[in-house]
Amino acid sequence: MSRFEYTIGKEMDLHAEWKKTLEDEGLHANIILRCMFAAMDLIYGKAREIDKFLVIEILARYPYWAWEVGSYLRLTRQYANPAYASKTDADHAWHHINLGRKSQDNEQWHMFILEDLMRQKGMKRHFLKHFLLPRFLAFGYYFLTRIMYRLRPEWSFDMNARFESHAEREYAQAVVDHPKWEEETIDTEYFEYYPKVTTMADLFRRISLDERDHKFESWEEYERITGKEFKP
Ligand SMILES: [Fe+2]
Ligand SMILES: [Fe+2]
Repeated sequence: MSRFEYTIGKEMDLHAEWKKTLEDEGLHANIILRCMFAAMDLIYGKAREIDKFLVIEILARYPYWAWEVGSYLRLTRQYANPAYASKTDADHAWHHINLGRKSQDNEQWHMFILEDLMRQKGMKRHFLKHFLLPRFLAFGYYFLTRIMYRLRPEWSFDMNARFESHAEREYAQAVVDHPKWEEETIDTEYFEYYPKVTTMADLFRRISLDERDHKFESWEEYERITGKEFKP
């Protein structure tokens, strides 16, 4: 039984949960994340606009992919070995593969929806900001998390919890910054993948909650594998 309350797949009072996020001070970002957030503010501006969230979503998938790929490679090493693997090794890898897959899908749906809303709004895409830099950042973030996961998986879970905490708060704060979003009705064919909401404000509230779940999952996994208390 988890001490965290997970919300994905549940009917939630989005307004009440949004208030909780706004009142929460979030997790401390490490130096790597602080540099990354500062670079993003510099490139995309401090304003919380959809195109910036699209880049956050592009990056957000990579730790999950790193856990999935890293776990499969570890299984290969363990099963292509003269010594037999143990059920504990298999359970450990399988847990991270599952965690990686479901979170990666969830981030992917956020990405699909935000990109489609940008397209509907006719927002311009720029070569540097929306093509070259996201690829460059994604490449760096993937290898960084991949190396962390290979060397000390807990480093990767620790950093991801902090990244997701930032995402949770940014999505919530974006609703405060854009009061018009309460009235802005949205629709997209990508709701085929994702719980349908009717306004832009509720979309951001729901995504913020998803990011909170991701934060708690990494936090919990850090504590499970280290046996130590996570330091917010
Ligand atoms: Fe996301
Ligand atoms: Fe996330």
